Amino acid sequence: MALKNGKWVWFNGEFVPWEEAVVHVGVHALHYGSSVFEGIRAYGTANGPAVFCLEQHLDRLYGSCRIYRMEIPYPKEELRRAILELVAKNGHRSCYIRPLVFRGLGGLGLDPRRDCPVEVAILTIEWGAYLGKEALEQGVDVCVSTWFRMAPNTYPALAKAGGHYTNSQLIAMEAKDRGFAEGIALDVFGYVSEGSGENIFIVQEGTLYTPPLSSSILGGVTRRCVIALAGDLGIPVR
Ligand SMILES: Cc1ncc(COP(=O)(O)O)c(C=O)c1O
Repeated sequence: MALKNGKWVWFNGEFVPWEEAVVHVGVHALHYGSSVFEGIRAYGTANGPAVFCLEQHLDRLYGSCRIYRMEIPYPKEELRRAILELVAKNGHRSCYIRPLVFRGLGGLGLDPRRDCPVEVAILTIEWGAYLGKEALEQGVDVCVSTWFRMAPNTYPALAKAGGHYTNSQLIAMEAKDRGFAEGIALDVFGYVSEGSGENIFIVQEGTLYTPPLSSSILGGVTRRCVIALAGDLGIPVR
């Protein structure tokens, strides 16, 4: 997939051209996955792009950082403003927004808190439907992955951390190799957890079922919205 990137990147407090938003190969995150991030959609509307649930995404970003003891050197309000300004500056009709917080250059020890600065970048790209346009109309075939999600006492699944996505990559690559669009992983107790990059719902006899947070899932912002909407519509959720 050719990357349709925005012209500008917000990088450590400044807007810089996409090509200049680069890091050294020695940054801690590149070696150990010590980053946290968000994936936020801005949808095209008659009044311009509308960012979906920005507050909830920012809350999760700061929550992930707390779990991994990363102190973001910017207040939430500044990142909120940076995201909105970046979307406007890049002139997207709709886009995917990727705020990324990572441990930078300073050492390769496994407790990087003293040596490595915490850096922040925000990218925007134009990215269509996650599993392809047809998926929205026709659905997709998925398999149950042979890879499990992480046990709760190995990685905190509620943090959206870069390193956790090595597990997601194994699930996604295996599914594609077996001819499926996506893999659904079980948790270590054998219960359905989630896909490599999305939460799961099933509808059965008028009830909506979704795995609980205790099944090693990421607490999805979309999941929370779906549960709220179902509540508004009087649809039971279990
Ligand atoms: C592993 C995983 N689970 C669930 C989700 C869904 O989260 P959200 O609804 O907040 O986008 C994502 C999205 O990136 C994900 O990567």
